[in-house]
Amino acid sequence: MRAVIRGIGSYLPEHIMHNAEMAERVETSDEWIRERTGIHQRHIAAEGQFTSDLGFEAAKAALADADMTADDLDLIIVATSTPDLTFPSTATIIQEKLGMNHGAAFDIQAVCSGFIYGTHVVNALLRSGGAKRALLIGAETFSRILDWEDRGTCVLFGDGAGAIVVEAVEDTKDGILHTFIRSDGRHRDMLYVDGGPSRTQTVGHLRMLGNQVFKHAVTDISQVMRDCAEQAGVEIADIDWFVPHQANQRILNAVAKKLKLRPGQVVSTVAQHANTSAASVPLAMNAAVKDGRIKRGDLVMLEAFGGGFTWGAALLRY
Ligand code: UT7
Repeated sequence: MRAVIRGIGSYLPEHIMHNAEMAERVETSDEWIRERTGIHQRHIAAEGQFTSDLGFEAAKAALADADMTADDLDLIIVATSTPDLTFPSTATIIQEKLGMNHGAAFDIQAVCSGFIYGTHVVNALLRSGGAKRALLIGAETFSRILDWEDRGTCVLFGDGAGAIVVEAVEDTKDGILHTFIRSDGRHRDMLYVDGGPSRTQTVGHLRMLGNQVFKHAVTDISQVMRDCAEQAGVEIADIDWFVPHQANQRILNAVAKKLKLRPGQVVSTVAQHANTSAASVPLAMNAAVKDGRIKRGDLVMLEAFGGGFTWGAALLRY
């Protein structure tokens, strides 16, 4: 039994905020942001537009791509750190928006690694018979938890959503081949939100020691990709496409150099989307599928790194 991707879709809010607009808010420049991060612009959710709205649009696009409806699903998982509400889960809100009142829905919280953690969970559930057809969504409105006076963080993030429809299929070479997730809670003070229901009764703002996170990200992403490939019995050199978490172009370049990846093999949307946390991997993958780079049968590795720290990789035959 393998978990095969049947459809993929994404959604980005209409409003695009260019670096120039950012420079009107905080002491920064288009030049600094491009040079240090590769980011040119980010999408920002409209007032009254919530994470579930973004996720719902991405879900509809993925279902249409799979030629399925919510009736065909028995599971919805949403990876997010910016839920509409403390509870109920954003997944159940999207379930209701889809008009689905059967099956089950729940959220996963692993910050920027949420979509990889979600892939790990979906894969395990589908292979073990715990579900037959699942919708996995990464959806975020990080613009709502940014400190818009902290130039070290507010320039880096954007809003968006991506989704895949995954089906349990017997006797196939396609689908998710292997997933490997990691975490290490000792580093939580390097990347966290300084509020929450239990501790402060507030939502809080994102805080990050950027240059320290950067070093851990490069080392841990490179290692987890090597480990994931080795555990799957696949050589890094045999992988067609790499779809990384889109935090910083310099992280993508440093990892590509360490793993000796070929130019053009790494899908990058960081210039257009900035860091959309759990949405960044499905947003990037959708871009490369829709423009014809990633084709059926290609070997694809997904990876992410985020707060916790959490990190992980997933290898699949699309
Ligand atoms: O998604 C989860 C994972 N997140 C990440 O992976 C993010 C990882 N970190 C990064 O991407 C980078 O560390 C940043 C882009 C956040 C920062 O780049 P950096 O090259 O590590 O810069 P830095 O933090 O060491 O700061 C260098 C200088 C500082 O000035 P001084 O102290 O040297 O005078 C900062 O104050 O750049 C300054 N600076 C800025 N200048 C203009 C920081 N932010 C800005 C800004 N505009 N927006």
